Amino acid sequence: MLEVYDLFEDTLVTIYGLLRVLFMRIYLSRPDITEKEVEAVCAVLRSPNLSLGPKLTEFEGDFARYIGRKRAVAVNSGTSGLFLCMLALGIGPGDEVITTPFTFIASATTIMMAGARPVFVDIDPVSLNIDPAKIESRITKRTKAILPVEVFGNPAGMDKVCEIAQRHNLTVIEDSCEALSSELDGKKVGTFGTMSVFAFYPNKQITTGEGGMILTDDDGLADMCMSLRNQGRGKGSAWLSHERLGYNFRLSDINCALGIVQLSRIDEIKAKRRQVAKWYQEILADDDRLIVPVEQNDCVVSWFVFVIRLADRFTQQQRDIVLERLEKKGIQVGNYFSPVHLQPFIAEKFGHSKGDFPVTESVCKSTIALPFYNNLAKDDIAVVCKTLKKVLNENLSSD
Ligand SMILES: Cc1ncc(COP(=O)(O)O)c(C=O)c1O
Repeated sequence: MLEVYDLFEDTLVTIYGLLRVLFMRIYLSRPDITEKEVEAVCAVLRSPNLSLGPKLTEFEGDFARYIGRKRAVAVNSGTSGLFLCMLALGIGPGDEVITTPFTFIASATTIMMAGARPVFVDIDPVSLNIDPAKIESRITKRTKAILPVEVFGNPAGMDKVCEIAQRHNLTVIEDSCEALSSELDGKKVGTFGTMSVFAFYPNKQITTGEGGMILTDDDGLADMCMSLRNQGRGKGSAWLSHERLGYNFRLSDINCALGIVQLSRIDEIKAKRRQVAKWYQEILADDDRLIVPVEQNDCVVSWFVFVIRLADRFTQQQRDIVLERLEKKGIQVGNYFSPVHLQPFIAEKFGHSKGDFPVTESVCKSTIALPFYNNLAKDDIAVVCKTLKKVLNENLSSD
């Protein structure tokens, strides 16, 4: 009886999958916007304050309270936020900042934008975050800071990075762009660094369309970031009075209104994402062809994306074929990440080549980011997993 039921369920999932292929795609990411967000944005549009208005101050206040830090400075992207951290901390030419090569490019390029050198350290094969055990050998007289990233939302190892930084009198710039609401040992992500940065692109836990937030307990650093994001104007200075070289990295009140409502829904959003991750884990965990991400000890993960890896016996070419076949079947997937040190302009500038960071390189060859977002339906997850398993059963040589 059970077998008949299984067969019936399998057939239904296959038919559903087929209909999806014919009529729609299962997307890698989708924002979760309710009528509340729409109303909040419209209310700003009906107001006279589209920028530098009350929603900016409200969003910054809400965010600082949520993370548990003294100050929050909203900016127009995570990239702008990281770059302003460099400038506010006085990091520039001749300085080195230690970071990971397994991240989104902006973690490294913002160090370069400031004129400093990113010094890469390989990652831990389980957490996929910078490997604390490998950091100390890369510290030199020129090292000014460590920039760790909570990759895919995983905070594992941040405490160890902070201990090392403290021992060597280095600043920690915490790139929390992927990890809003994750926790390590009861401590929220965004409270580890002297400065930390979040990002709000639409695939993130919360979105403002585009946007970012700098967090710190240091008033001097926060005030400097506020000035730098606003054309170098000082506190209360006249519109055409500028104290320093600055930028326009402001976040409009329209974006902030969206962010305020999204942040107010963070518990609901986190619960949804954790549920989606759990559904994937339940279906995929036992498949020995896959390495499925799990929450490590003492961590609460808010899941930015759900990235599985193919077991070591698969080649990069086979992984690429899997990606291609999933896409052809209407399932949008990603190859997060491509090693940062091997991006041609970075490899050339700093003399990197294949083999420099073997853990990063081997992980990058095997990753598959599966569709992942708040409202991804259980049925869609079943289709994704069934299709993935079917593709893995195929001959994975080029068509
Ligand atoms: C780890 C990390 N750092 C920095 C950024 C940059 O954020 P943004 O795209 O808002 O500039 C991102 C964005 O995806 C990220 O994932």
